[in-house]
Amino acid sequence: STNRTFTMIKPDAVANGHIGAIINDITSAGFKIIALKYTRLTAETAGAFYAVHRERPFYNDLVNFMSSGPIVAAILEKENAVEDFRKLIGATDPSKADEGTIRRKYAKSIDANAVHGSDSDENAAIEGSFFFSAFERF
Ligand code: CMP
Repeated sequence: STNRTFTMIKPDAVANGHIGAIINDITSAGFKIIALKYTRLTAETAGAFYAVHRERPFYNDLVNFMSSGPIVAAILEKENAVEDFRKLIGATDPSKADEGTIRRKYAKSIDANAVHGSDSDENAAIEGSFFFSAFERF
C-alpha cells in the first residue's frame, strides 16, 4: 500500500553539488515529495535525531559529520516507500552498494554515504515529525 519514508541528503552530497541529481533520481523512481527543507543540524539536534545509535561506536563521528554542513530533509510517498527507497539508495557502505544506486553513484564512505533512508514505517513517522510540522506536508 502507499506509505511514506523520510530521507536526508547528507552534508557530503550537498557539499559535492549532488542535491539536484539525487532529487531527480528520487522523483524519477516514482516517489512523490510530501515535504522538503534545506537546513542544518547542530550537534545537539543531530545527537537527538540519531539517539537510537547513541551506544554505537560510530555515534560521535556520525553526530559530528551530520552537523558539519547543510542537509536536505524530505518526506516521500510511494507504494512500498520504505523498502523501495532502501533499494534505491543501496547498502549503508557505498562500496557494497549495487551499481546504479544513489550511494554507489554519490557516496564516498560509510559515514559520508550521501543519503539517509528510514528503516521502518514507524521510524519514518518519527523522523518525518522531527523535521516537519503538519503545516509543512502537502
Ligand atoms: P544512516 O542510515 O543515516 O544511519 C546511521 C548512520 O551511521 C549510517 O547511515 C552510516 O552513515 C553511519 N555509520 C557509520 N558506521 C556505521 C556502521 N558500522 N553501521 C551502520 N551505520 C554506520
